[in-house]
Amino acid sequence: MIIAVDGPAAAGKGTLSRRIAETYGFHHLDTGLTYRATAKALLDAGLPLDDERVAADVALRIDLGGLDRDVLSAHDIGEAASKIAVMPAVRRALVEAQRQFASREPGTVLDGRDIGTIVCPDAKVKFYVTASPEIRARRRYDEILGKGGEAVLEDIFDDVRKRDERDMGRADSPLRPADDAHLLDTSEMSIEAAFMAARGIIDAAMMK
Ligand code: C5P
Repeated sequence: MIIAVDGPAAAGKGTLSRRIAETYGFHHLDTGLTYRATAKALLDAGLPLDDERVAADVALRIDLGGLDRDVLSAHDIGEAASKIAVMPAVRRALVEAQRQFASREPGTVLDGRDIGTIVCPDAKVKFYVTASPEIRARRRYDEILGKGGEAVLEDIFDDVRKRDERDMGRADSPLRPADDAHLLDTSEMSIEAAFMAARGIIDAAMMK
């Protein structure tokens, strides 16, 4: 059983996906980390971010078992990731690895931007998790301050808008809800409430 969770940055899809995976005993893959790991490997090796062939070669060697969320969550890595994510050859390499992961038993939860549309179009259940850009920026800001960091809310808001534009505007696999995705708008809904709604939908799908 595959559960696809898509949506823009900071909408709450990571937290929701982890809760779903824990509840059902499924494997979870945050596919954003695969783009981030590729970007970080390029940055670390001093390689350019605009050479598709070089980036795809690096993407082919990413080990899904070695993705470290703490290291990869850095802001500049996210920016670099969304730049190389526009390259079709990079996407082909990472999507292949993601599909292999998706077939693990007894089930998987994959979150990203194109899971329900491209990576796993036959996923049993699809969610599209979203929230207004203002709310997503505010959540990211609170998260950084909560970890003792410093941030300027307006800068984060600008970043969220830019990332949305890049992810929704690219030609290959743009971010959009699959036609059969369940929409979860977390602007006015806690992640807990979104989880309860998701659970109801998953349980109903499992009975079919
Ligand atoms: O979700 P996260 O912020 O970690 O993703 C980083 C970037 O990787 C996104 O902005 C997006 O450009 C790209 N990405 C993607 N397809 C996915 C997951 C992430 O293009 N399935």
